[in-house]
Amino acid sequence: ESGAHIEDFAFSFEGPFGTYDEHQLQRGLQVFTEVCSACHGMKQVRIGELSEEGGPNLPEDQVRAYASNLSVIDRETGEERPATPADKFPANTGAGAPDLSVIAKARAAFHGPYGLGINQFFKGIGGPEYIHALLTGYTGEEKEEAGTTFYENHAFPTGWIAMPAPLSDDLVTYQDGTPATVEQMSEDVSAFLMWAAEPKMMARKQAGFVGVLFLGLLTVLLYLTNKRLWAGVK
Ligand code: HEM
Repeated sequence: ESGAHIEDFAFSFEGPFGTYDEHQLQRGLQVFTEVCSACHGMKQVRIGELSEEGGPNLPEDQVRAYASNLSVIDRETGEERPATPADKFPANTGAGAPDLSVIAKARAAFHGPYGLGINQFFKGIGGPEYIHALLTGYTGEEKEEAGTTFYENHAFPTGWIAMPAPLSDDLVTYQDGTPATVEQMSEDVSAFLMWAAEPKMMARKQAGFVGVLFLGLLTVLLYLTNKRLWAGVK
C-alpha cells in the first residue's frame, strides 16, 4: 500500500498568510489529552506554550490547572510531582508509540514529481495531511504476527500499523459544542500537532512578511538613488 494517495487539505495555517485557528487547536488539544496521550508523549513541547498568542491562546490559569493534572519526574529530586506550565508535556514510551512533539514535520505526504519537491512547494510537506489520512485510513481488517496485532491502514506506508484505530464518533465531547465526528477530531488533532511541531509559525510568517516589505522598499530607494547618481552622465 505504499504510495497511498493522501488528500490535500486546506488547513487554515497554510499559505504565506495562514494562521492557526485557536478554537481548532483547543479542540485538538482535547483530543490529544483524552485520546492520544494514553500512548503517546509530547516531551519537547512546553505546557506553558498553550497560553501563547498564535497558538491555542488559553488563559494562564486554565493552563496552570491543565498542567497540574499531568505528572512529571522532577529533574532535581527525581521524584514524580504535578506539572507546572514551565514543564514539558510528559514522555510516554509504555505502548511503544513514537513521541508526537514534531511528528507533523517528521512525516511527509507529498513527494515528487520525480523528487523535485514541486508538490511540496505548492502543498506543503503534508505532515498534518498524513496524520489526518492515518487516523481516517483504517479498513477494519486486522492480523496477528509474532504476537502483535496489526491493523490495516491505507495511509501507513506498509499498509499495516500496530496502532489500533484510536478514534470513534463522539469519543470526546467538545467544550465548544462542535460535533465530534472521526473526521472532525482527525482534522483538529492534526492541526494541533502541526502547532506543537511549529508553535512560532505565525511569528515567523509575520517577520518574513515585514522583511520582504523592507527589501521591497530598499529596492525602490536604491533604484531612485541610482538614477539620480548617474543622471548627469547619461
Ligand atoms: C503511531 C498518531 C493514539 C499507539 C502513531 C503515529 C502517529 C500517531 C502520527 C506515527 C505513524 C508513523 O510512523 O508514520 C496518533 C494520534 C492519536 C493516537 C493523533 C490520537 C488521536 C494512539 C493510541 C495508541 C497509539 C491511543 C495506543 C492504544 C501507537 C503505536 C504506534 C503509533 C503503538 C506505532 C505504530 C507502528 O509503528 O506500527 N500514532 N496516535 N496511538 N501509535 Fe498513535
